[in-house]
Amino acid sequence: MKFEFLNPTHLVFGAGSLSKLGEVVRAHGKKALLVTGGGSVRRNGTFDRAVSSLKAAGIAVAECSGIEPNPRLSTVLRGAGIARSEGCDVVVALGGGSVMDAAKVMAATLFYEGDPWNMMAGQENRRLPEKALPVVTVPTLAATGSEMNGGAVITNEKTIVKSFVTARCLYPCAAVVDPELTLSVPPDQTAFGICDLMTHVTESYFNGVDGTPLQDRFAEGVILTAMEWGPKAVADGRDIEARAQVQWASVVALNGWVQIGTLAPYPVHMIEHSLSAHHDIAHGAGLAVAGPAWMRFAARTRPGRFAQFAERIFGLSLQRPDDSEAAAQGIDRFEAFLRSIGCPTRLSQVGIGDALLERYAKDTLLVAHDADGRLPGRPPMSEADIVEMLGSAL
Ligand code: NZQ
Ligand code: ZN
Repeated sequence: MKFEFLNPTHLVFGAGSLSKLGEVVRAHGKKALLVTGGGSVRRNGTFDRAVSSLKAAGIAVAECSGIEPNPRLSTVLRGAGIARSEGCDVVVALGGGSVMDAAKVMAATLFYEGDPWNMMAGQENRRLPEKALPVVTVPTLAATGSEMNGGAVITNEKTIVKSFVTARCLYPCAAVVDPELTLSVPPDQTAFGICDLMTHVTESYFNGVDGTPLQDRFAEGVILTAMEWGPKAVADGRDIEARAQVQWASVVALNGWVQIGTLAPYPVHMIEHSLSAHHDIAHGAGLAVAGPAWMRFAARTRPGRFAQFAERIFGLSLQRPDDSEAAAQGIDRFEAFLRSIGCPTRLSQVGIGDALLERYAKDTLLVAHDADGRLPGRPPMSEADIVEMLGSAL
């Protein structure tokens, strides 16, 4: 195990912390581009409270609203244009992962020469951004972990490809994480967020290098916490304690700590991004479909790893030396958990048929592939493997 670790994001966590937003932003700029989604923050009063806090701290505000789920490149360009014409020196992202991701790329676009799509993985002339306006994230949905990481996921609506960028300059300078802001998230989005955060740690658990037992325990801790508190948040959206535990789990799941030293690729994410690029489905819903199918595919080559998951997460007993039975039972239990909180687990449930399976596989490999043209992961997957795996989830 060998690694370096840096996460520069100043995290302010806890119910009521939205009131500190102005004070936090004041340390980074004087005029904020306030980026928001399709209107939930206006309907639930969060927008007004955020603006009051900013104004009380003497911060001027320009707005960029209407960031759509699975944010588009054209939306990023629109926001960057507003920031430039309004002379903003700091970006505040108030919304879900889509708002935060779009805000990060807007902040970097201001300093990026040429088409910002060239930042994205899979581009032949890829050039990572090196500078961005400071970004303060205020997540209103517990899911992506974007509030405290240096990643962003954007869809190029012309080519229908969804890709990602990870760069040092994209780390938010601060994240104001207030679980009260998630009280209005409907049960389905709450469940999708729970699936997303769990998948962030299963990706590294199943695809990371060997010999990371402490990271295994971190991942198991996130999964068990999500399974304990997630159903409570789905059953009663006003349960602030459940909302807080789920949101803390979502921050930890992808701020780099659980994955430290694992060097893990994210095959389920790469495949899901092709599904949401084409069908505009919620990311967490796509993961709930692709995740169990991928697990069954991967367990064929590494049953022992999946048997460990079954034993430690679901308390199933192992029947060594043949781990495949325990592995299969653990995956069934995982899928059953996702269904129990209201996630779809078949492609047909999210309105996807078999017409474009090869296209999803090709698009996935455009964004991420190894020297042999396969999707990185354990095991690496060919185009035919991805088609087979998705076919098993119809
Ligand atoms: O747009 P509004 O009106 O705000 O409504 C949103 C949207 O319709 C709604 N919502 C958000 N907060 C709410 C709320 N509704 C009621 N009350 C609230 N408090 O929820 C809907 C979904 O929002 P979205 O931001 O799209 O969801 P999520 O946070 O799951 O973000 C998904 C995006 O993040 C990317 C995904 O690919 C997808 O594009 N990801 C980003 C990652 C990262 N940067 O690290 C990692 C992830 O793996 C993921 O790929
Ligand atoms: Zn995710």
